[in-house]
Parts: sequence; structure tokens; C-alpha cells
Amino acid sequence: MDALECIKTRQSIRAFTNQPVERRVLEEVLEAARWAPSYKNTQPWEVVVLTGGKKKALTAMLLELFEKGAPPTPDLPEPGEWPPAEQARIERLYRTRAERLGVDLRDPEVIRKAKKANFAFYNAPVAVYLFQEAVLSQWSLFDLGLFAQSFMLAAHAKGLGSVPQAFATDYAAQTKEFLGIPASKRLVLGLSVGYPDTASPANSLRTDRDPVAAFTRWLE
Ligand SMILES: Cc1cc2nc3c(=O)[nH]c(=O)nc-3n(C[C@H](O)[C@H](O)[C@H](O)COP(=O)(O)O)c2cc1C
Repeated sequence: MDALECIKTRQSIRAFTNQPVERRVLEEVLEAARWAPSYKNTQPWEVVVLTGGKKKALTAMLLELFEKGAPPTPDLPEPGEWPPAEQARIERLYRTRAERLGVDLRDPEVIRKAKKANFAFYNAPVAVYLFQEAVLSQWSLFDLGLFAQSFMLAAHAKGLGSVPQAFATDYAAQTKEFLGIPASKRLVLGLSVGYPDTASPANSLRTDRDPVAAFTRWLE
């Protein structure tokens, strides 16, 4: 698969097979992702990879917090309001998911289920967390985003599927304590990683994108 095909065919994967992921493959993915660019080559990324009993125990803790109604305290707050263009795209995504998958994220009960699926890392064999020093500037968040995309593309190139998950950072303080991450760092993103279950309807929806002309102006 060439680079363009890799970029264009990556999609969020939310159902996985039971096939375990060899550590060697994950190391290869991380080895590629570390070549992401960063502001002054600061490389402001730290990674925890969770599998097996540790991953199960984290899911159990997150589900317990959720079930008892603990208020989410993510290090990066969930956005409240969106400008009209972005809001319209969110509504289009929700409409398409409701029509095509019967999953209507405007329904509170469906949101509850979706949150629980996130805390279970969609039953993927691997969960990954990305974090960095909380005092770093917005440029470093940008850099971590570049790292995350490089990670997901490298995973895709190796036949793995992944989904980036803001929801997996809902209980940031408790998650950091569980993972042995100092409170002085910010938990930015969780990801589920594994081999895609290609038969699952959860993976059947390809999200759309605006055409290039909608976001590009050429000046001569
Ligand atoms: C920063 C970020 C946070 C996201 N959080 C979640 C999440 O918590 N749960 C989830 O299922 N998907 C999450 N997604 C996946 C997006 O919904 C997805 O990338 C988007 O709908 C485009 O679809 P695609 O990834 O299949 O191209 C997140 C994506 C990004 C980049």
C-alpha cells in the first residue's frame, strides 16, 4: 500500500477480531510514529500500551466510575459549542450513523452505551494512551496530533485498525493514577488497536469529507 492509499483508506475501527497483536508489530508501529515532525523537534509525546489483565482492570475501573455517575474530568475539556460549519458536520455525521447503523447519538441512552463501548476500548486487544507535560503549549498538542495520525497510519499499513478516543480520557485523574502517570502530565488521547472485524456493521460506515474546493482558495 502506498502512502496516499494508506491515508485515504484509514478509517476509525470500532469492532475487532480476537486475534492478539504481537508486541513486535506494535513496536514497529511506534518506531514509525516517532518520525512525526514536532515544533523544534521537541517530540512531546509519551505512550502507554495496555493489554491483557491490565487493560481489563482499567476498563472495569472506568465502567465503575461511569455507573456510579462520577463526573468526567478530562484534562482537555469536551467542547461545548461549535461554530455553525463544524456543528453542521457533526449533525451530518450523527444523521448518517443513525440512518445507516441505527445508532442515534442524539439519544441519551445511545450515548450511555457508546460511552461504555469506549471505556471497553471496543473490545480491542490493545489500548494505547498518549500524554505529555501539561505545561506544554498548544503547539505541543498539535505535535501530539501529528504523532497520533502517524501512529494510526503506521498501524493501518501493518493491517491493524484503530480509533482515536477523546472519551477514553473522561476520567483523566483516575486513569493517570492507574497508569502510573504523574498528575503534572495531561492525558490527551486514548486509542483502541487491533485487527479489524471486517464483517462487523460497526466498521461499515465510511465517513464523508467536504471536497477540496470547499476548504481551499488558490491565490496567484
Ligand atoms: C481527537 C479525536 C477524538 C475522537 N474521539 C472519539 C471517541 O471518543 N470515540 C469514538 O468512537 N470516536 C472518536 N473519534 C473518531 C471520530 O469520530 C472519527 O475520526 C471521525 O468521525 C471521522 O471518521 P474516520 O476516522 O472513520 O475517518 C475521535 C477522533 C479524533 C480525531
